Amino acid sequence: MSDHARRRKQGPVNQQPSYTDLQQAVTNQSSLAGKKSWNLIWDVVDSYLDNSVKTAHPQYFNQLWAGQSDPAMIGAIVEVISNTSMYTFEVAPLATVIENELISVFRQHLGLETWAAQMTTGGSNSNFLALLLALHRRFPDYQQTGLPAGTKPRVYISADAHYSMEKALMMSGLGLHAAVKVAVDENGAMDMQELHRHLQQDTNDGHKPLLIVGTAGTTVRGAFDPIEDIADAARRHNCWFHIDAAWGGAIRYSTSQGALLKSIDQADSFSWDAHKMLGVPLMCSMLFTKQHDAFRNAFRLGDTSYIFHDAIDANEQSIDTNHDLGPDSLQCGRRVDALKMWLEFLFYGKEGFQRRIDQFLDLSALAEQRIATEPELELQAPRWINNICFRSKPEGISDEQELNQFNQKVRQSLMQSGKSMVNQAYLNQALTIRLIIANKDVTESDISQFFDNWIAEASELKREWHYES
Ligand SMILES: Cc1ncc(COP(=O)(O)O)c(C=O)c1O
Repeated sequence: MSDHARRRKQGPVNQQPSYTDLQQAVTNQSSLAGKKSWNLIWDVVDSYLDNSVKTAHPQYFNQLWAGQSDPAMIGAIVEVISNTSMYTFEVAPLATVIENELISVFRQHLGLETWAAQMTTGGSNSNFLALLLALHRRFPDYQQTGLPAGTKPRVYISADAHYSMEKALMMSGLGLHAAVKVAVDENGAMDMQELHRHLQQDTNDGHKPLLIVGTAGTTVRGAFDPIEDIADAARRHNCWFHIDAAWGGAIRYSTSQGALLKSIDQADSFSWDAHKMLGVPLMCSMLFTKQHDAFRNAFRLGDTSYIFHDAIDANEQSIDTNHDLGPDSLQCGRRVDALKMWLEFLFYGKEGFQRRIDQFLDLSALAEQRIATEPELELQAPRWINNICFRSKPEGISDEQELNQFNQKVRQSLMQSGKSMVNQAYLNQALTIRLIIANKDVTESDISQFFDNWIAEASELKREWHYES
């Protein structure tokens, strides 16, 4: 396994296998099932790792997570060996204590010492839970009766918010028509005038503003919505204020940019993915709330005597049940995501996390400088953190449609060659190349290499482009 872990940082970042070839290989393996063959198992392990994208490779800039850290990797493997569920102290004794300790460490790092928190199964899940917390606070009978007849709650998210909030609305039964997408300003942050306008209009129309979601680190531009202004609007309209910091939460560690999150204690809830910028293996996520009874009020229900044993049982069996984490969670079975993060923290400590995030921001500044000095590259959005949105703008191509196609092609050929992987998105109608620097092993020379690769591929394509047209 350690040999594989090393190889995942070398060679081409991606093999680009075709779906048909992979399907053929998998179907062949399927025909060998039931022979209790260890050779087959190791063949599959090798082929699986060989055909996986090397997400720890220093030329992998594709997602909001990247890299590999040995302490956390060991935690992930040990977690599988121990194979337990986080719901009771009875079956997860040390894991329960570790999760509680971890939560208190990260509460302290974030400056949310007095808040309640729990580990969740991801940022999307945390956003859904935050919506449920908001519903339970506003409608205390929600657990029994659902929404009172005729109520029309509204949820405000920015136009650049992650799609998970819309899925949350669908799952809660409120439906997408309850979402109000507030326009963003030229930097990608929620436009406060627009938010006020929507809140006023909805109140006049008999809707109930329920929840405002501010994003700390949007998925494409890495923008931060104005936390203090949103908190003020939320107070005035009696709304729950949730901060989706799945991506940007780790910026709290930055010595230069940490202040972007200085007012998070003005929110009612705050979600954060350690599996993104902090580099812990997926999934590793936390939801914090200022409202101490919120988890209990929203999630405790049902006859659970077959799993959560009451105090009398506990006395008889000498088992301490007061520490069960399951009753206040939406999950029943839940993996021990705390262990990998705990080992990562023990190994690197808070200072190590600070250095990691500072390094991402330094390298991002370097990438930005490189873009500024290259005549055929342009930055498409002001840089907030470690999201860099740029594109090629080659001489002789000015049509926006054509520029989109050109940049898409450069990205694809770079990926097909196995040299570098970087993602794309749209800003308004313009295709943008979103470079994310979130691998702790990436260095200045990897960033230079990425731009060298990009520019070489773009020059080649430019020649063909002009030749063909
Ligand atoms: C801002 C934001 N929120 C939430 C999510 C969803 O997180 P997860 O993939 O952990 O569900 C993402 C994922 O990219 C995100 O960027």
